[in-house]
Amino acid sequence: MKYSRLVSTGRALPRQLVTNEELARTHGLDTSDQWIVERTGIRTRYRAAPDENATTLGEQAARQALETGGWAAEDLDLIIMGTTSSELMFPNSAVLLQAKLGIPGVPAFSVEAVCSGFLYALSVADQFIRSGQAARVLVVGAETFSRFVDPRDRSTSILFGDGAGAVLLEAADEPGIMVTRLHADGRYAELLYFPSGPGRNFRSMQNDYLIMQGSRVFKIAVQKLGDVLEETLRAANVTKEQIDWLVPHQANLRIIEALAHRLELPMNRVVVTVDQHANTSSASVPLALDIAIRDGRIQRGDLLMLEAFGGGFTWGAALIRY
Ligand code: ACO
Repeated sequence: MKYSRLVSTGRALPRQLVTNEELARTHGLDTSDQWIVERTGIRTRYRAAPDENATTLGEQAARQALETGGWAAEDLDLIIMGTTSSELMFPNSAVLLQAKLGIPGVPAFSVEAVCSGFLYALSVADQFIRSGQAARVLVVGAETFSRFVDPRDRSTSILFGDGAGAVLLEAADEPGIMVTRLHADGRYAELLYFPSGPGRNFRSMQNDYLIMQGSRVFKIAVQKLGDVLEETLRAANVTKEQIDWLVPHQANLRIIEALAHRLELPMNRVVVTVDQHANTSSASVPLALDIAIRDGRIQRGDLLMLEAFGGGFTWGAALIRY
């Protein structure tokens, strides 16, 4: 039996950092640093410049993961990217990334599951490795969600930022990734969506912005994530006390605290980075993972629970022995 082992991680953030105060002042928002910190935990986010996008940020994160793992790009036999902000409508961002890495012929595709994109991509990569179809996989989450929000809308523009995270997985005799669980429920599409695309209102796309019913998203996220965390623990026959680190989707500190409460996990075993980079959608879990590995919180052998929740709704979790 083959499993996926987590070899290394990497991350990238755009050059421009924007504080709450700068965001409010620049766009004349009726809000304050205090309101944003109290309701979301967010203090700063990064905004991509015109020459930065999911491919360039994904490449930086991927190269850092490769260097840390001691791999060359040529060692990869598969690239999967979670992104909803692909540089172009097509080719997909993973293919554009493959070209930048200079490894023609290596299969590459994107998974679009909004903020759950990385969890979905990780789960797909795990299936490829378990089935013997791939042995060395690059999984990336990269987004430029700042381009989807109306900068004048205080209820959404404060929440999102841009960035990328990457992990390398390799085939191993022991886990590694113990269990992944994915879910979706399209009946909730209208609570969080972007109102145009190739199939609808395409020509108005550049004037459209993300639409969200924040407080309803909040409540359902806490419920669904709590359920999938318990389901994942049951599937792995692991108790919540055995989790060393919860690495949650970094959307809102209050959602993270509600989940920690439901799992009865003290906050000193929860990785929180949302204060630094806001909600970077599918980049948020690999960003948090990389930050906590590099600063020494997460150690080899630790048991990690990853989770994410996004538009759709989509959600999922992964239990990993690091
Ligand atoms: N500054 C000041 N006031 C604000 C701001 C702001 N930035 N944003 C909203 N308000 C106001 C509202 O207008 C409302 O005013 P009203 O009572 O006069 O109508 C009041 O604050 C309360 O609004 P709520 O929406 O009830 O506030 P809530 O405490 O729910 O916080 C928030 C809003 C932060 C958006 C919260 O609902 C949230 O984080 N929801 C989850 C959203 C999310 O994480 N989405 C992404 C997850 S999925 C994914 O990652 C793609």
